Amino acid sequence: MCGIVGLIGRNDAAPLLLDGLSRLAYRGYDSAGIATLVEGAITRRRAEGKLANLAASLAAAPLAGTTGIGHTRWATHGAPTEGNAHPHGTARVAVVHNGIIENHAELRAELEAAGQVFSTETDTETVAQLVDLHLARGLAPVEAAAAAFARLEGAYALALIFAGHPELIIGAQRGAPLAVGFGEEEMYLGSDALALAPLTRRIAYLDDGDWVIVSRSGAEFRDAANNPVTREVKLTRLTGASIGKGNFRHFMEKELHENPAIIGDTLNRMIDPATRLPVLPDLAVDLAAIPRISLSACGSAYYAGLTARYWLEEIARIAVDADVASEFRYREPPLDPAGLGLVISQSGETADTMAALRYMKRQGCKVMSVVNVPESTMARESDLMLETIAGPEISVASTKAFTAQLAVLAGFTLALARARGARSDAEIAPLVAALMELPGKMAQLLADDTEIRALAEDIRDARDVLFFGRGSMMPIALEGALKLKELSYIHAEGYPAGEMKHGPIALIDPSVPVIAVLPSGPLFEKTASNLQEAAARGGRIILFSDKAGAARLAGIANRTIIITECDPFVAPILYAIPVQLLAYHVAVLKGTDVDQPRNLAKSVTVE
Ligand code: F6R
Repeated sequence: MCGIVGLIGRNDAAPLLLDGLSRLAYRGYDSAGIATLVEGAITRRRAEGKLANLAASLAAAPLAGTTGIGHTRWATHGAPTEGNAHPHGTARVAVVHNGIIENHAELRAELEAAGQVFSTETDTETVAQLVDLHLARGLAPVEAAAAAFARLEGAYALALIFAGHPELIIGAQRGAPLAVGFGEEEMYLGSDALALAPLTRRIAYLDDGDWVIVSRSGAEFRDAANNPVTREVKLTRLTGASIGKGNFRHFMEKELHENPAIIGDTLNRMIDPATRLPVLPDLAVDLAAIPRISLSACGSAYYAGLTARYWLEEIARIAVDADVASEFRYREPPLDPAGLGLVISQSGETADTMAALRYMKRQGCKVMSVVNVPESTMARESDLMLETIAGPEISVASTKAFTAQLAVLAGFTLALARARGARSDAEIAPLVAALMELPGKMAQLLADDTEIRALAEDIRDARDVLFFGRGSMMPIALEGALKLKELSYIHAEGYPAGEMKHGPIALIDPSVPVIAVLPSGPLFEKTASNLQEAAARGGRIILFSDKAGAARLAGIANRTIIITECDPFVAPILYAIPVQLLAYHVAVLKGTDVDQPRNLAKSVTVE
């Protein structure tokens, strides 16, 4: 999604803005631009496509000026052309914007009737023209911006600079995040702390509805009703160094290899080393008394939630509803106020998941979030937060954050099972032991991916791929299919294995790889029968299983990826890695943009 940076600096702003934009590139974008104040006048450079094009344009015609704003755009209204790239504006004001101004058509008609002349079709230009009209009528920038913000509907984060005001940036947030960074006689704005990490670790986040007047000497915050407010300045854990690729070719590869350390760190927070039993931070909720859980999330985070539903129902004996967040509120589910809402998100900013969280709160539920960014809007708006300790995830396709979500949800399941008396400590102990063995097993798996690379060669030219799984492995089949399609653009579907005979079996022929994620365990035989049915129809069976499973299906599997034995409870966490690695290697072979697949955005802040 779009990214915003802004700074009032002491040296030329353009190189720092470009660096900030490169740190927001992970969010996904298709054009970019920068505006600075050169001797008081707004001057822009914009370019279609990758930041290298903007860098080339800046190299050809450098921008001076110590105050400026920059933007990476993920197209919503209008094609990703240079003309549609931000900043937009007039001679008096320039604006960068993340989100959608929903009443832009109405505002545009009104502004055109008042004599404002538009040069683009974008919703963002409406903001600039609205502010411009107020400036033309004699308001000062702060009053003009306040008057304009009062008219805007929709979701946005905004940053504005003004001709003739070299030490002023005004920012605003409603539904899309914005952070203010504090430096030494320098001030910054950014969509997230990551963009500002090399510049400062002192960050204050705007609350929803806030706007902020940034000058060289600091920031004045105002709430939606225009009252002066204070917002806490926190030290972020991020450092400028924390987002390198190291010796890896892609962030995705690096992030997959971070799994053992991350899962270790995440579990160490949840398991008491003395008792080896799960502990949770003080949740201010009586876990034993929750009658049910309603969970909601998007994409891979939703699959983590689906997996947790199997665990929570079977092990903690609690009823769980699970919905994709983009649909959840449209069902208007009547929620039990005594129940717990659960949202899961790497970014903590996904607009649909935010809307689900707010719906849950309106229904009177306490909401727990599982998030990877502790300063995110979701973390701040939820009643309880369980943090995944995955560190910044730069690859657009989620890997380590997904496995960390699973690890947190597994720990939560065991803590809840204890609190509810659904399982005795003696029953919990082997499940904890299985979790604690995961980092070692993951490291073993990642140490040699030769077989997975060979399998990638095998399926790189497939047109369709089917993934099957059953029980808590079913969401891992969905995850395998999602990763393959988003990274390699091969059509892939994930299905509950038992559903195959109700439709997808019609697709099976020797050209369609059928991938089963099937560890040994209570559900093995039933799924093995489904694979026999696929094999009998000429299906090319690819098995992800342990040695015993591989031996049992040696007669029908065309290829087997052997995974270390593990307790069926933790198998979804372990098997997530090879299915993600497979998608990675297919993408590398096909030469696609692994870390920023086409059309995708990392932090999806529009509904
Ligand atoms: C898939 C992927 C997406 C995200 C989804 C939710 O690889 O990364 O499906 O899982 O967009 O994002 P968060 O977790 O930030 O809410």
